[in-house]
Amino acid sequence: MRKKIIAGNWKMNMTPSEAKALAELLIPLVKGTKNEVVFCVPAIDVTTVVKAVKGTKIQVGGENIYFEDKGAYTGETSADMLLDAGAKYVILGHSERREYFKETDEDINKKVLKALEKGLTPILCCGESLTQREQGITIDWIRMQIKIALQGVTAEQAQKMVIAYEPIWAIGTGKTASTEQAEEVCRAIRVLIRELYGQKTANAIRIQYGGSVNAKNAAELFSQPDIDGGLVGGASLKADFGAVATA
Ligand code: PGA
Repeated sequence: MRKKIIAGNWKMNMTPSEAKALAELLIPLVKGTKNEVVFCVPAIDVTTVVKAVKGTKIQVGGENIYFEDKGAYTGETSADMLLDAGAKYVILGHSERREYFKETDEDINKKVLKALEKGLTPILCCGESLTQREQGITIDWIRMQIKIALQGVTAEQAQKMVIAYEPIWAIGTGKTASTEQAEEVCRAIRVLIRELYGQKTANAIRIQYGGSVNAKNAAELFSQPDIDGGLVGGASLKADFGAVATA
């Protein structure tokens, strides 16, 4: 049985002092859940949040890395920096990074390989725009994004990964994909993983749904056979995350 994983994506919110307060608010609310809980936080907040969750089962993740080990890349964060600060996960290929920071599928593939090489677990994001959904190419698009992102990734590495299906039109819009839409794409992702790596890897990899997940819709979404939890933006910044993480 796959353990469900609920990750908060704090995005560019929370100064270190706000991050400490939010972590302290959420810790008692997620206590006792059977799910794995991750706070993915701005790089500047990682140390503070790692300290705050010490002694709990909550894990901490970053929201991005650069694919080089170190050097003259002003403003970037390396995998080693996140790891040394105590992060275990990293969100890669979020649609906001693809759109605003022009990350390509090839960049994301390099970042996935670097994270895996260093021992950070990638939460790899994929998702279609509203136009692509209306054009009927959702599954083709998602398959392409994942196939490129996983170039050079072994079955053993893929088994540990998390893939987050996040339809762009559902992110931050309050328009959640229907349970059927979310399950259909998450199932198609698992089928692709089986084609690429075989049944064992398809059974092990965890696939999240993301896009306006909230305290009301989380339980139904996460009860689907191919949805192993969620990547949660807006609702991860408030007490609602307690209900989402324990759904
Ligand atoms: P949202 O964001 O829950 O606010 O829609 C999800 C995400 O971007 O990961």
